[in-house]
Amino acid sequence: MMRRVKMNSFTISSFIIFFSIGAGESCTKHYSCMGRNLSCIPPSIPSSIQTLDFSFNVLKHLQKTVFPVLSFLRVLDLSRCQIEHIENDTFYNVKNLATLILTGNPITYFGPGGLNSLHNLQRLVLVDTGLSSLQLQMNNLTKLQELRVGTNNVQSMSLPSFMSNFKDFSLLDLHANNISIIKTDHTAVLREIGRNMTLILSWNPLLYIEPGAFKGIYLGELDIRSVFISCAAQKVGLKALYGLNVKRLKFGKHKDSFRFQFSDTDFLDGLCSIYFQEVYYYIMEKPSKPISVFRCMINATNVAVIGGLIDEMEYVHFREIKELYLVSIKLSTLPGKQLSHLHTLEKLVITHNSAPSWADAFIDMPKLQYLDLSSNRITLKQCCTTLLSDTPQIRYLNFSRNAEIGLDVGGFDGLDSLEILDFHHSTVVRVGYLSVLSNLKYLRYLDVSYSRITFTNIFSFYGLKNLNVLKIAGNNFQGDVNGVPRIQLCLHMRDFQAGKSIASNIIDEGIMGSRKIIVVVSQHFIDSAWCRFEFELAQSRFMMERSANIIIIILEDVEERKSKKVFGLHKHLKKNTYLKWSRDPLSNMRFWIRLRKAIIATNQ
Ligand SMILES: *[C@@H]1O[C@H](CO)[C@@H](O)[C@H](O)[C@H]1NC(C)=O
Ligand SMILES: *[C@@H]1O[C@H](CO)[C@@H](O)[C@H](O)[C@H]1NC(C)=O
Ligand SMILES: *[C@@H]1O[C@H](CO)[C@@H](O)[C@H](O)[C@H]1NC(C)=O
Ligand SMILES: *[C@@H]1O[C@H](CO)[C@@H](O)[C@H](O)[C@H]1NC(C)=O
Ligand SMILES: *[C@@H]1O[C@H](CO)[C@@H](O)[C@H](O)[C@H]1NC(C)=O
Ligand SMILES: *[C@@H]1O[C@H](CO)[C@@H](O)[C@H](O)[C@H]1NC(C)=O
Ligand SMILES: *[C@@H]1O[C@H](CO)[C@@H](O)[C@H](O)[C@H]1NC(C)=O
Repeated sequence: MMRRVKMNSFTISSFIIFFSIGAGESCTKHYSCMGRNLSCIPPSIPSSIQTLDFSFNVLKHLQKTVFPVLSFLRVLDLSRCQIEHIENDTFYNVKNLATLILTGNPITYFGPGGLNSLHNLQRLVLVDTGLSSLQLQMNNLTKLQELRVGTNNVQSMSLPSFMSNFKDFSLLDLHANNISIIKTDHTAVLREIGRNMTLILSWNPLLYIEPGAFKGIYLGELDIRSVFISCAAQKVGLKALYGLNVKRLKFGKHKDSFRFQFSDTDFLDGLCSIYFQEVYYYIMEKPSKPISVFRCMINATNVAVIGGLIDEMEYVHFREIKELYLVSIKLSTLPGKQLSHLHTLEKLVITHNSAPSWADAFIDMPKLQYLDLSSNRITLKQCCTTLLSDTPQIRYLNFSRNAEIGLDVGGFDGLDSLEILDFHHSTVVRVGYLSVLSNLKYLRYLDVSYSRITFTNIFSFYGLKNLNVLKIAGNNFQGDVNGVPRIQLCLHMRDFQAGKSIASNIIDEGIMGSRKIIVVVSQHFIDSAWCRFEFELAQSRFMMERSANIIIIILEDVEERKSKKVFGLHKHLKKNTYLKWSRDPLSNMRFWIRLRKAIIATNQ
């Protein structure tokens, strides 16, 4: 009992119980006392803890005596604790920390030795702390990997020179600071530690980058979204980045930043002098003249253009492209023609384009495996060979949330390697009565939910040997019959009369008031006295008047010994056919059709 209290020690009351009984013998590793208005670390905290979330409490002054000796503590979160002063030896007792989070504290004084006891620190988070410079006294933090200092007043991205010895340093997040100028000497340390580092400068008011300031620097990722105040500034800024080597470049604007007008058509030319493999362009503007967005992206392996207005896709001679994303750019046609013959393309995502009503075929893309065309407004009268040809490797096809997709016999010829197919919330025509999918022997996932299909037989899914997920909710099922039957289900919470005993409700409303009785045999059914009672009643009615009948569904396997406990069940199962539930999607489909038939069949 006591042990349970300890394990659940995350509420204020059990917090107290925990400390009064638990000191010394606990095995708790993670501890949260977030938002308790505490003004000191509870002294009886177990010395073995590894994670302490102390955020949203009140600790104005930090000094050596604030923390007890916690040698195993690796993660300390002190977010929003109103911390103003951090003295020299503050972290002496928790010196094995790997992660220190000080987000949202109005720190006005940082003792020069404040951080230096943290020899093992890997992540330091100083977001929104009023920081005005990166010249922090942290010479001893040689294992530092991440420095997150977004939302501060830092004006220079210049790092202290000792950081060039920080071999594992890999992330500097400076988003939303006040950096307006970057000069060559500001990047000196970066040049030495760069290699595979992520540098985030988004949301700074960049006015000037000294040309060549990034020449010869290697970065894993550079994020310069929403840093340029105008189109002209972006043009000059990109040019100034010449000679930079970066694996992934993110630029353009965030959604809610201001829009600007295009004056020139060569505003992206600077990109041609930056070496990158992946580029993410967050375009939020409508060009007044046709522009060549992709001209300097032809050597990239991954290209994403997100948000904006490009009516028509240009022909681009991508040389090594593997992944292409065209998201929310209001294309007026799906650019099958322009993108055909891209022999290296493996993944193509064209989504959230409000305009297209028509799609050209994608032809001769021998490596294409993944095609996502969801959330457009496409109408395809005949899918899918008319849309895809010579794409032998295609495995994933997503047409969900479009207008209308027509499927025909032979519609998947040449697309035999499909494994995942999604049509949900698109109107799908003809699949309900034709076996149009029969050659998709590798298909394992099919979603045709809410696709306005009327299934008239089960041959729709003929041939799908490997299917293990089938989503067909929200469609019509006609089985082999004469329209929608008028049937009503008796539910105890809805149909049983209040104030009447359960037994008389079962007899009057349930058993006697129904034409059919469905018995779902499960472990619970066997164990429930009410269920056994109901079944006995149903049997006696079944014996007396032949007009009632019982449909038995075996939901799960029940031991024979147990099923014999229910009077008559065993005998009934031997004499009558019953339905067995199965997880296999095809048998599943057959199950529903048989059940429907059994329910609406009239008795002789
Ligand atoms: C927090 O604690 C202080 C005293 O330490 C008290 O004055 C204040 O009312 C408390 N605030 C809340 C919200 O409980
Ligand atoms: C803090 O430590 C530095 C050296 O790390 C020392 O120069 C300074 O005097 C110390 N300050 C206080 C207030 O102890
Ligand atoms: C920083 O590291 C040096 C060398 O290991 C050590 O002498 C010094 O005491 C450390 N500073 C602090 C504040 O721990
Ligand atoms: C940002 O820096 C400029 C100088 O570059 C300064 O004039 C301005 O006050 C700073 N803004 C803030 C919010 O600190
Ligand atoms: C570069 O860094 C990223 C993320 O920081 C990491 O996933 C990747 O493995 C690194 N690559 C190399 C070559 O070190
Ligand atoms: C693409 O790569 C080729 C060969 O490496 C080079 O000649 C060309 O300038 C590059 N183009 C761009 C736009 O980067
Ligand atoms: C298809 O795209 C829709 C909309 O983007 C998404 O919700 C769904 O998960 C995708 N389907 C699969 C199988 O990935």
